[in-house]
Amino acid sequence: MLMSSLVLPGLLSGIALAQTTTYFAPGVPRQTAIPGDYDGQYRPRAHFSPPQNFMNDPNGFHRDGDGLWHIYYQLNPVEPVAGNQHWGHATSEDLYHWTNQKIAIWPFNSTTYVYSGSAVNDPNNTSGFFPDQDNGLVALYTIAASGGLQTQNVAYSRDGGYTFETYADNPVINVGSTQFRDPQVTWHAPTEKWVMAVAYSQEFAIEFYTSPNLVNWTAVSNFSHYGLLGLQYECPNMVEMPVEGTSNGTSETMYLLYISINPGAPLGGSVGQYFPGTFNGTHFEAVDSAFRIADFGKDNYATQFFSGVPNNERQVSMAWASNWQYTSVVPTGDTEGWRGQMSLPRYNFLRKLPQLGGWVMVSEPYNIQAVFSEELAFENDLGNSSVLADYLTVPSGALYFEANVTGLTDETLVGTLNFTFTSTISGEYVSGGTFIGTDTWMDRGHADGFENPYFTDKFSATGIYGGQGRWRISGVIDRSIIEIFVNGGEQSMTNTFYTNQPLDTVRIAANGIAEGATVSVGLWALEDTWATQANANGTVLGNTTTSGSSATSGNSTFLFH
Ligand SMILES: *[C@@H]1O[C@H](CO)[C@@H](O)[C@H](O)[C@H]1NC(C)=O
Ligand SMILES: *[C@@H]1O[C@H](CO)[C@@H](O)[C@H](O)[C@H]1NC(C)=O
Ligand SMILES: *[C@@H]1O[C@H](CO)[C@@H](O)[C@H](O)[C@H]1NC(C)=O
Ligand SMILES: *[C@@H]1O[C@H](CO)[C@@H](O)[C@H](O)[C@H]1NC(C)=O
Ligand SMILES: *[C@@H]1O[C@H](CO)[C@@H](O)[C@H](O)[C@H]1NC(C)=O
Ligand SMILES: *[C@@H]1O[C@H](CO)[C@@H](O)[C@H](O)[C@H]1NC(C)=O
Ligand SMILES: *[C@@H]1O[C@H](CO)[C@@H](O)[C@H](O)[C@H]1NC(C)=O
Ligand SMILES: *[C@@H]1O[C@H](CO)[C@@H](O)[C@H](O)[C@H]1NC(C)=O
Ligand SMILES: *[C@@H]1O[C@H](CO)[C@@H](O)[C@H](O)[C@H]1NC(C)=O
Ligand SMILES: *[C@@H]1O[C@H](CO)[C@@H](O)[C@H](O)[C@H]1NC(C)=O
Ligand SMILES: *[C@@H]1O[C@H](CO)[C@@H](O)[C@H](O)[C@H]1NC(C)=O
Ligand SMILES: *[C@@H]1O[C@H](CO)[C@@H](O)[C@H](O)[C@H]1NC(C)=O
Repeated sequence: MLMSSLVLPGLLSGIALAQTTTYFAPGVPRQTAIPGDYDGQYRPRAHFSPPQNFMNDPNGFHRDGDGLWHIYYQLNPVEPVAGNQHWGHATSEDLYHWTNQKIAIWPFNSTTYVYSGSAVNDPNNTSGFFPDQDNGLVALYTIAASGGLQTQNVAYSRDGGYTFETYADNPVINVGSTQFRDPQVTWHAPTEKWVMAVAYSQEFAIEFYTSPNLVNWTAVSNFSHYGLLGLQYECPNMVEMPVEGTSNGTSETMYLLYISINPGAPLGGSVGQYFPGTFNGTHFEAVDSAFRIADFGKDNYATQFFSGVPNNERQVSMAWASNWQYTSVVPTGDTEGWRGQMSLPRYNFLRKLPQLGGWVMVSEPYNIQAVFSEELAFENDLGNSSVLADYLTVPSGALYFEANVTGLTDETLVGTLNFTFTSTISGEYVSGGTFIGTDTWMDRGHADGFENPYFTDKFSATGIYGGQGRWRISGVIDRSIIEIFVNGGEQSMTNTFYTNQPLDTVRIAANGIAEGATVSVGLWALEDTWATQANANGTVLGNTTTSGSSATSGNSTFLFH
């Protein structure tokens, strides 16, 4: 190999990326958010989706010093298919009500793309970019240039993440590779250094770099050929998170390295896997050689954890809820002018579950109660019976449900709990269920609005009874996406689905539950988090503040597809 492991900026940058100009695609608003119509039948109302056109990977996720959550995302602002990558931007106080912001990072010409990356606050001004502030934000991301070269680049924001200036001496890492991307940066306090994880996609290596200042990076180790390889590694994320439920009750943290695979997932296309382990400032070491699948559905990819959440707190993440096998042909593009949505925000921590391979990343919806609008049903003791609810009049069409079986013993792990969401007009349905103590399944094969050979129907995952007398299932259905959680998130399944007619009725049923066990069920409507922002024409304008004197205003002729 030609590359030395110590990469100094400039030395290897054979191709000079002149970044003095910025390319603004014709018709795309520059100083204001892109407007969006969130009324469509398929538009999730409690999940984030882009105002128009195409969204994929999470980028630059962070919580700022004021507690505001920022997401950036891969955005093609001109077509509902991948390409022409920019960083779209949105902010939220609760991770459910999002304010669309203007595009944050633009490419510098029409054949150069701003790929995925991360963002960190630099409170100590280690970068030197921030003369008089402690809330400076630094983004690190891949630039894919014409010819295919992929390099790591820096931009910084002095206004809290709304606008960025590109660093004058980009790229900060150039190893001459065309498959080298998605830098994720985190602060390692014990060594007082920044640490970057970045993927050599086709060489199946996650390379770690360290830096004192976010611009001079030294390669220090590789984590390579671990777990599922698929055809490419992408979007590494290393994060420290609590281990809960340890026997002595003390709180402990561990590192977790998350790697996305595409293509080549066991179910086809895209998937996320993770490795619990340790990190000593230069080397990540997995606890064992096993890989662990993060989500058993088909639409959960490129998870990113928010920077700015203390290591001893549950870490917060969202994933791109789609799959590269069919994301560019799902029907939302033709009928509603957008494609791609994020998963629900999730809390994540590790739990010791010896029978599930030692450590499991538990993921459950982040404070979902914040968007409950109405209790639709609650049964303390369902018995072997069912709850039926009509939710045609729920404006969001989005629901949260949960069912707990308690009073179980090792001898009474029998019976099932099923859910079915139906359209009374077309008879289409989405269903699933759990066998107490073992498997949970889901079936999207009776939603008839989309046919595709890769859009497989049925999914399942095996859980383990924890010996505490209970078995739980919960989930969120939101017009064209469903997420299911078993035992508070020990397993999760994220799937999109496309019905011809809206679903409007739900049945949750218990069958064969043993005597002595009790089933409780709750069902809540979720708020339409976008409706409150829509104007009289139903358009969500997002942030229309124009800032700076050069504000030539958005292009008012920008039309919906
Ligand atoms: C964009 O910039 C790259 C790198 O400088 C250059 O090779 C390419 O020709 C440029 N493309 C256009 C359309 O200007
Ligand atoms: C505004 O958008 C239209 C339609 O895409 C385009 O023709 C025009 O050049 C744009 N104007 C500016 C100032 O970007
Ligand atoms: C940040 O670093 C720059 C460059 O070293 C320096 O000029 C500036 O005074 C620093 N600002 C603060 C607040 O430390
Ligand atoms: C900032 O500086 C303090 C004091 O030296 C240190 O404890 C902390 O880890 C630093 N944090 C970052 C993100 O630079
Ligand atoms: C850090 O990188 C910059 C260019 O990005 C260079 O000017 C400077 O000399 C480097 N510093 C060190 C300590 O390598
Ligand atoms: C990591 O692996 C890549 C790809 O094989 C290689 O180019 C690079 O030099 C390695 N880095 C280190 C620090 O060993
Ligand atoms: C608690 O357990 C953790 C690991 O399981 C261990 O690191 C820690 O030392 C233990 N603490 C006490 C007080 O025993
Ligand atoms: C980190 O771990 C690696 C691999 O085990 C080892 O070579 C290195 O010396 C360790 N560094 C420190 C600071 O302990
Ligand atoms: C739930 O579905 C499974 C699988 O189809 C079935 O065996 C079970 O009887 C169903 N339970 C109820 C309550 O409908
Ligand atoms: C299910 O159990 C969880 C955890 O104990 C509890 O918070 C929730 O209220 C229960 N839900 C129902 C419907 O009983
Ligand atoms: C709604 O659309 C009409 C027709 O395009 C326009 O005149 C009106 O200003 C719009 N209203 C709002 C609140 O945007
Ligand atoms: C709108 O964007 C500006 C920066 O362009 C920012 O300062 C302001 O906080 C944003 N307002 C809202 C409500 O997000």
